Amino acid sequence: MKQIIFRPEIERFDTCREFVREFCLDEQDLILTNEFIYRPYFGELSIKATVVFQEQYGAGEPSDEMVESILRDADLSCFRRVIGIGGGTVMDIAKVLAVAGEAKLDPLYEQAPNFTRLRELVLIPTTCGTGSEVTNIAVFARTRLGVKMGLVSDSMYASSAVMIPELLSGLPFSVFASASIDALVHAVESILSPKATSYTKLFGYEAVKMILKGYQRIAAEGKDARKELFGDFLTAANYAGLSFGTAGCAAVHALSYPLGSMYHVPHGESNYAIFMGVMRAYLELGEEGELHRLGIFMADVLGCPESDVWNHLEALLEQILPLKPLCDYGVTEEDLSRFTESVMTTQGRLMANNFTGLNGECVLGIYRGLWKREP
Ligand SMILES: [Fe+2]
Repeated sequence: MKQIIFRPEIERFDTCREFVREFCLDEQDLILTNEFIYRPYFGELSIKATVVFQEQYGAGEPSDEMVESILRDADLSCFRRVIGIGGGTVMDIAKVLAVAGEAKLDPLYEQAPNFTRLRELVLIPTTCGTGSEVTNIAVFARTRLGVKMGLVSDSMYASSAVMIPELLSGLPFSVFASASIDALVHAVESILSPKATSYTKLFGYEAVKMILKGYQRIAAEGKDARKELFGDFLTAANYAGLSFGTAGCAAVHALSYPLGSMYHVPHGESNYAIFMGVMRAYLELGEEGELHRLGIFMADVLGCPESDVWNHLEALLEQILPLKPLCDYGVTEEDLSRFTESVMTTQGRLMANNFTGLNGECVLGIYRGLWKREP
């Protein structure tokens, strides 16, 4: 059984200038990023690389159309290295740019995981959420099929994952909140996964502790307290990435995908909308084993009785980001069956990692419970 995968080298720099100097960026580098990140942090650094701004190819979650437009415009044969600087969308697309030999995404899904990396890949996260810089998965809305699906291949591991806490300083609080909740979900889902090992749990539990301690401080001192915690949150998201990179994510991600693809709810926020519903379903099915251990661990971190730990967690998260019922995103009652059908037919990769088996009836029950807020 695989214990843990450590593939990219992990680097850390205090400033973007130090990164640029150390990595000797030149004309053979393609940087994929966003203008609002590049201009303030890299704009003055006389970088000779070609820069592509992802938002010029579409907004929101990454899709096959977005990737294919970039592939059509960028002559990838000129580049020996792809550098992705951004959130989940940028990193997912950068992974494809490192392996793509043609301008279509579908052939990669058909060949996966058997394709090779054609360019070096450097990933620099600018949110504290995805952990994508250390994983081999990219997730795209496949618009021709109407589903959101993971593309997985060891060829999509970065050569280097680079942590630069300075890059988080411009994050609006709402983005910080939803990204870090995504990291918490990565940690929790991977801790509870049947593929979890003592190695992945080392990183997963530490990520949970760092994120919850950070949230407690923000809840006590106010939103600005996060500014002293960017380094911790970036590290925690990276730890969670190392944990789920081997142990996998599960039902929270699987059930959030239809919400993301049909109603364009950002990834972290859609996970948050589903998170407690899945945890409560697990608890109802029997609070045993790792779920029980996780409850004890979090009660210790939160300083609350074990019996009330999930309510405390929910209340703490509510202070960081108010939770919305699914109907507030426009989800209709009829959607719930469609969502369930989509999860049960297309998300087997994630559902295989569930703490306990969840059948279609359970999934529909979770959606129903989250659809409208209890009176
Ligand atoms: Fe995620």
